[in-house]
Amino acid sequence: MNPTIEGVSDPAVAAAAVRVTERPRVGLILGSGLGDLVVDAASRTAYADIPGMPVGGVPGHAGELVVGRLGGQLVAALRGRVHMYEGHSAATVGFPVRVLHALGCQTLLVTNAAGGLNPTFVAGDLMAIEDHVFLPGLAGANPLVGAPAFVSMVDAYDTALVALAVGFDPELRRGIYAMVAGPSYETAAELRLLRAIGADAVGMSTAPEVVVARQLGMRVLGISCITNLALPEMRAPVSHEEVLETGRRVRERFGRLVTDVVARI
Ligand code: HPA
Repeated sequence: MNPTIEGVSDPAVAAAAVRVTERPRVGLILGSGLGDLVVDAASRTAYADIPGMPVGGVPGHAGELVVGRLGGQLVAALRGRVHMYEGHSAATVGFPVRVLHALGCQTLLVTNAAGGLNPTFVAGDLMAIEDHVFLPGLAGANPLVGAPAFVSMVDAYDTALVALAVGFDPELRRGIYAMVAGPSYETAAELRLLRAIGADAVGMSTAPEVVVARQLGMRVLGISCITNLALPEMRAPVSHEEVLETGRRVRERFGRLVTDVVARI
């Protein structure tokens, strides 16, 4: 229970609404396009049927928690997530990770779509997240506000899991993920700022979930799909459709990588 965070429910009550016969060890957050990765699902629970689970409404993001086998492991997968740009607090965005943990998950594998700030990246690249810059969090929108826990984040992303992923997919990029609140995309000046602070990719998710996972002692692997380039000198606007389309294009490779990694966690 996390009683002091206003509006955030009890993860144990939420987890009790999910039918499981065995405890899943690995939790997955499946971003755009990866939703149907878990086959032979043992159970599917709509977010609407899980007490306290936030329900989103962005196209491309379904809303159900699936427990099933992937790479021979029992996993609990969140098909779809909510974002701060939908008006949710960071604590609410992080709540589903508490549910995964309450179900038994010790490792979190989180995927997302991101814009590529590193000029050597191309759309369709996959990037293992080595570290993040949580801009809304630095400005006060941290998921632990309200029930302060002084969680170390210097080792947030598990280096052994990054090495495991690179071993399976040698083309995998590595880099730093900057989280912005969105939903508008960045101005050219903002993209220059993000590059100046060392970010390789920019997106609108993941960091709140990772803070919560680290509070709970979970190991974390994050993989970004670079769906578009986000370069300040590029004047062409990014579209949500382009982001979804690139996600679909690399789905198979992304799915294979996630499956291979899960099999060895
Ligand atoms: N900026 C922010 N978030 C994103 C982008 C981007 O260019 N692409 C996908 N998510």
